[in-house]
Amino acid sequence: MKFSDRTVEDIRNRMGKNRLLGVENYKLIKLLAKVLTSKRSPGDEMNDFFKSRRPGKNQRQAIADLIFFVLNNKKRLFCSVMDRDNHKSFYDVIADVLFLAKRICFFPDKLFLDKHDLKISKALERFELFETSALPDFRKVSIRFNYPVWIVKYFFNRKGPSYTYKVLTNSNNRRGFICLRVNTIKVKPREVQRFLTNVRVESVISEILPDCIYIRGKGNILGLEAYEKGFFEIQDFGSQLITKVLNPKPYAIVVDYCCGAGGKTLSLSSIMKNTGLIYAIDVSSQRINQLKMRANRAGVTNLYPLVVSHSDNSKIEHLRRKAAFVLVDVPCTGSGTFIQYPHLKWRITQKIVADYTRLQRSILEKASECCKKGGILVYSTCSIFEDENNLVTDDFLKNNQDFSPVLWNIGVSVQNRKRLDTFLETDWRGGAILLDSSISKYGFYFQKFVRNV
Ligand SMILES: C[S@@+](CC[C@H](N)C(=O)[O-])C[C@H]1O[C@@H](n2cnc3c(N)ncnc32)[C@H](O)[C@@H]1O
Repeated sequence: MKFSDRTVEDIRNRMGKNRLLGVENYKLIKLLAKVLTSKRSPGDEMNDFFKSRRPGKNQRQAIADLIFFVLNNKKRLFCSVMDRDNHKSFYDVIADVLFLAKRICFFPDKLFLDKHDLKISKALERFELFETSALPDFRKVSIRFNYPVWIVKYFFNRKGPSYTYKVLTNSNNRRGFICLRVNTIKVKPREVQRFLTNVRVESVISEILPDCIYIRGKGNILGLEAYEKGFFEIQDFGSQLITKVLNPKPYAIVVDYCCGAGGKTLSLSSIMKNTGLIYAIDVSSQRINQLKMRANRAGVTNLYPLVVSHSDNSKIEHLRRKAAFVLVDVPCTGSGTFIQYPHLKWRITQKIVADYTRLQRSILEKASECCKKGGILVYSTCSIFEDENNLVTDDFLKNNQDFSPVLWNIGVSVQNRKRLDTFLETDWRGGAILLDSSISKYGFYFQKFVRNV
């Protein structure tokens, strides 16, 4: 849909500058319209917006909060501002959505003042009405939590109401932290913490994963000298946890199948103290190049990057039954990242899930061939759909009797293990799903196996 000049002018005249956010309202409306209709991620769209306007740090944060509030409540906000016989233009609707979101987001204690404004009080009333919606009213619950109906039904039918609510609320619970992983090849966590304190970045070292540091917000963390020197990477708690579950030993031969740009590869290298050899395998040469750059910065030298094609096995033939540790972090729907990419909810369909599932089965089969007798294999996704998780690993076990499932263990104290268990759901054969945004921004699934023969 196009933002016609008449509408721009109209909105510009009707709405002045937003004092709180330091940006003219019509520019915010344009930004929101772009985020809602773009194929790119909301973060990319906002970065472009900030590059040309350079708002202050607090305003930037407030704008991002507002946009994410709209994305996380999209369905509910739109349903609240639109009348049944709605004749408003697209941009009028967007303007109303933004206005309503701003009131709820920034002035929740002053909402009663809006009772004088008939339009906004009607919209607020409708918005609040959805608050009480309960399962199994799938349509209303889907509006309240901003989820497609089929996803609400998916979890309700398989896992029941309380798990469904957990999924729905968790991904709308955006937290203000990010996780760093200390590159222990170069520095110790305390040293990174000192660097951060010196540049006035507050940080907390995780009690469960000692190389994981939580910081508030992102700021210009990638512009810090400590980052340039390769002292840390941005990596979510769950992603770090998966590499600890594999726990490759120093001097081992490791295969990181689907290494991407190497988030987990670098983490594996750190665990191995930069010894042994990691075959970092992916179909994307672009991602492998990014990995090479990151490895350079991190001082990681134990990698052998390999670009492969899905249909041709010749490049991995020599790795048959060679690796003592194999990680296979398959491509997936990314449904565990809805918290950061709420727009994905509306792009994923059941057909897309089924297509991924087929690809995951075939990649897992292929990667498992690299595992030697007695070797460890870990399958992981950042998806919360069981089709991509335990249904794939169930099938793998049925077809590969030489592999057995293993209960995971990351060698932490009993007390920390108990705490960690409160954030995870582990099934009877050790497949675990991490779905708690208070400890890990994204949701992950992993299953550990051992090859017996
Ligand atoms: C979830 S991402 C990997 C993320 C990465 N492990 C990390 O921690 O940053 C999945 C990766 O699988 C790769 N991929 C897709 N199909 C593949 C295939 N048939 N063989 C190998 N890699 C594949 C994609 O290019 C993508 O980089």
